[in-house]
Amino acid sequence: VLANYGISPTHGFLPEVLPLTRLPDPYYNKWEAIAANLQALILSKRLRSVVDRLPVLSTIGLEHDAEWRRAYSLLSFMAHGYIWGGDSPSDSLPPAIAVPLLKVSQRLEVPPVATYAAVCLWNFKPLFMDEDIDNLENLATLNTFTGSLDESWFYLVSVAMEARGAPIISLMLAAIAAARENDASTVTQNLNTFAERLDDLTALLQRMHESCDPTIFYNRIRPFLAGSKNMAEAGLPKGVIYEDGTGNETYRQYAGGSNAQSSLIQFFDIVLGIEHRPTGEKRGREVESERRGQAPAPKHNFIMEMRRYMPGPHARFLGDVQAVANIRDFVAANRDNRSLCLAYDACLSMLSNLRDKHIAIVTRYIVLPSREVRARSRSRSPVATRKMNLAIASRQPQGIAYDARGAAAKQVDGKQSNLKGTGGTALISFLKQARDETGEPAIEQW
Ligand code: HEM
Ligand code: ALA
Repeated sequence: VLANYGISPTHGFLPEVLPLTRLPDPYYNKWEAIAANLQALILSKRLRSVVDRLPVLSTIGLEHDAEWRRAYSLLSFMAHGYIWGGDSPSDSLPPAIAVPLLKVSQRLEVPPVATYAAVCLWNFKPLFMDEDIDNLENLATLNTFTGSLDESWFYLVSVAMEARGAPIISLMLAAIAAARENDASTVTQNLNTFAERLDDLTALLQRMHESCDPTIFYNRIRPFLAGSKNMAEAGLPKGVIYEDGTGNETYRQYAGGSNAQSSLIQFFDIVLGIEHRPTGEKRGREVESERRGQAPAPKHNFIMEMRRYMPGPHARFLGDVQAVANIRDFVAANRDNRSLCLAYDACLSMLSNLRDKHIAIVTRYIVLPSREVRARSRSRSPVATRKMNLAIASRQPQGIAYDARGAAAKQVDGKQSNLKGTGGTALISFLKQARDETGEPAIEQW
């Protein structure tokens, strides 16, 4: 049944057939050559001119799914390199990227941007074929923007977590089945194993610190993961035009790549009956505003929105699991079963701990480096600041340039910087809400 959703019993949301290191048809050599030299082309600022001369290749030579996935990953790296790898961002993608990227995305049911699937799920290889892929020591990336170890590590931590978490899918589907049959002891046992596994995943997450440097992440890597939605400050006020040759192209806007697009973590929430409300919405909020006679402001639910950035079959899987998820109700109905309740609560607390550790990462990798950039611009006079920012702009990928400039401008206004995640959230407040919601259905408090 998992296979119907493109899920592997052993690899989970990672593909059962390992990602290809190269497209077999030599027709695609030009794509492969650009991807193989992506870092050098970005560094020398020649990627755009090379892509502008690239012919529009057809997708006709793509056969198996693995080939489509490789094409998608190659083209999304090229697309983001093209958009962000210049002195200022490009608000259009030329036909050589846009045409095949749109085709490939449609076929794979993913948006035509560098999603979590493009940079993590479909972008790794094992170092040794006879060893497992849930081990960071056995993983390598296929494509990167920067060629840095830090960038590879950033992606690979997620890959290892997906692999390590894969067995949880069958484990918890079995728990759902057991709950349906009123088999409390199996549910308890599987919840306990789940809690242990979550602890394992947190340990893996913490290994981010080993080989991904926060300054490099913030200044060099992150700018390339940015999307085209709400990116006015970054120089893309309207989004990006995909020159698909139809002649009636309009600006498109997409969220940037984010781990929030991981189906695995959303699966955990669904199975445990954790509900994530639209950002900024607290319990009883609507009730309160109704009482005051105001209509509640429409809020968008970021976590739900991110499902549209997952491969179609994976998103459908989540929807279908949601329809049968029964564990929370089962535990509530068996509140006198102490070991069952404890097992369930252990899962909530492990997942909330994982989110805690993740918040600490976001502080160290985004919030602190962004303050450093601001402090640097604050310590200079406006003229010197402008000069410094120009210097930064000419030296570094666009991301840091806009970031420094935007931050400096804000500083002059005396306003707080409004940091956003690449996915587009208000970072810490969003993540804290997600963490707090994880703890909410704790049985003890019912
Ligand atoms: C969401 C940053 C690594 C899992 C987010 C968000 C940010 C962020 C800013 C908010 C959404 C957005 O606007 O993009 C980071 C940074 C990381 C990192 C800086 C490492 C340097 C990871 C890893 C995982 C992960 C390895 C793997 C589990 C998530 C999840 C969300 C999220 C599941 C959605 C919110 C939630 O469910 O609590 N991340 N992340 N992140 N991230 Fe990360
Ligand atoms: N979502 C992560 C960020 O905002 C990658 O930097």
